[in-house]
Amino acid sequence: MKSIQDLQNLEGKKVLLRLDLNVPLNENIIKDETRINKILPILNFLLNKKSKIIIISHVGRPKGKVNPELSMKPICENLEKKINQKVNLLTEDIRNIKDRDLFKNLSQNVLVLENIRFYPEEENNSLDFAKNLATFGDIYVNDAFSCSHRSHASVANITKFLPSYAGIQFNSEVKALQKVTSDIKKPITCIIGGSKISSKIGIIKNLIPKFDNIIFVGGMANNILNFKKFSIGKSIYEKNCDEIITKIFDASKKNSCSIIYPEDVITGKELQSKPIVKDLNDINSDDMILDIGPKTLIKINDLINSSKTILWNGPAGYFENPDFANGSYEIAKSIVRNFKSNSIYSVAGGGDTIAVINKVNAINEFNFVSTAGGAFLEYLEGKELPGISALK
Ligand code: 3PG
Repeated sequence: MKSIQDLQNLEGKKVLLRLDLNVPLNENIIKDETRINKILPILNFLLNKKSKIIIISHVGRPKGKVNPELSMKPICENLEKKINQKVNLLTEDIRNIKDRDLFKNLSQNVLVLENIRFYPEEENNSLDFAKNLATFGDIYVNDAFSCSHRSHASVANITKFLPSYAGIQFNSEVKALQKVTSDIKKPITCIIGGSKISSKIGIIKNLIPKFDNIIFVGGMANNILNFKKFSIGKSIYEKNCDEIITKIFDASKKNSCSIIYPEDVITGKELQSKPIVKDLNDINSDDMILDIGPKTLIKINDLINSSKTILWNGPAGYFENPDFANGSYEIAKSIVRNFKSNSIYSVAGGGDTIAVINKVNAINEFNFVSTAGGAFLEYLEGKELPGISALK
């Protein structure tokens, strides 16, 4: 992949810049600006190089139809404030624009196209649409790693028509993921939570041959406990996954990867009830497992301390209730301690994991926190993402 930072002369060049400005909106108010903040480095880089920037992004899933609630307008206004210059929103249908020089009668250097998913051709990865889009620019930059698992026109086919480069955020995301998948410093440990084991089986299978330890926590661990014939009371678990779990244990044996699951837990009768620490043999039929227990935490802490690389995806319990958040918070704190003593490379990802990390104010105390969601998970599964193949 060629990187935009390696390109010398960008002055006056029209850059088609694919970003992921898919931020949560409620009545045109932006609820979380993280994704906007993350792309400021590429914008500032291109502005310093005196390029002209045409931003392409989607927001939400308008399914190929214009939906005013999913307009790029509030995002444009937010960007204007952040880069302290006028940003133009182009609301015209880009399929009908005759003059390809979008900057002709404009004094500003940043333009935002209206939500690219208003056009059905985007999600169909239409070659004609990509070709048409490409004629607006001189080069194309993908700084939208988080939608690079989508084979869409502005992510995939567009690279057939313009010299194409990876952006700054894109590169740092890929580098961080390489450090947990190919360019690994061992011992490496994965902490995996979440409720559906079947949705993460691709990742687990891909990681077992490379990892020293895989620690199951959260709802995911309930499946293992159930498989190991412990009572899990009325805890959440996924039915019919014994075959999957057998395969996990078989593969881990073959690859000398240790599978770790809770030795003790914190239970409640309801999501809001009093937390009670229990050994695995003491769980009653009306108990719910809502967090990991203190013995398990000691074990996880030891494994983190003895690892050189950590990948974390999925909280350890029902962290939405502070009574059951301790396990998740302690995992975060243990990783942070090792980060601070420079003894670990840590990557975390997934919406709930980020929420936990934010609760303990540790977002800058991990080596990398991915906001990529689906793309992050598919990369960990070992899939070649369409956006990456296109750049290659
Ligand atoms: C995301 O939020 O993960 C990306 O913006 C991709 O969005 P999508 O799942 O709607 O394709």
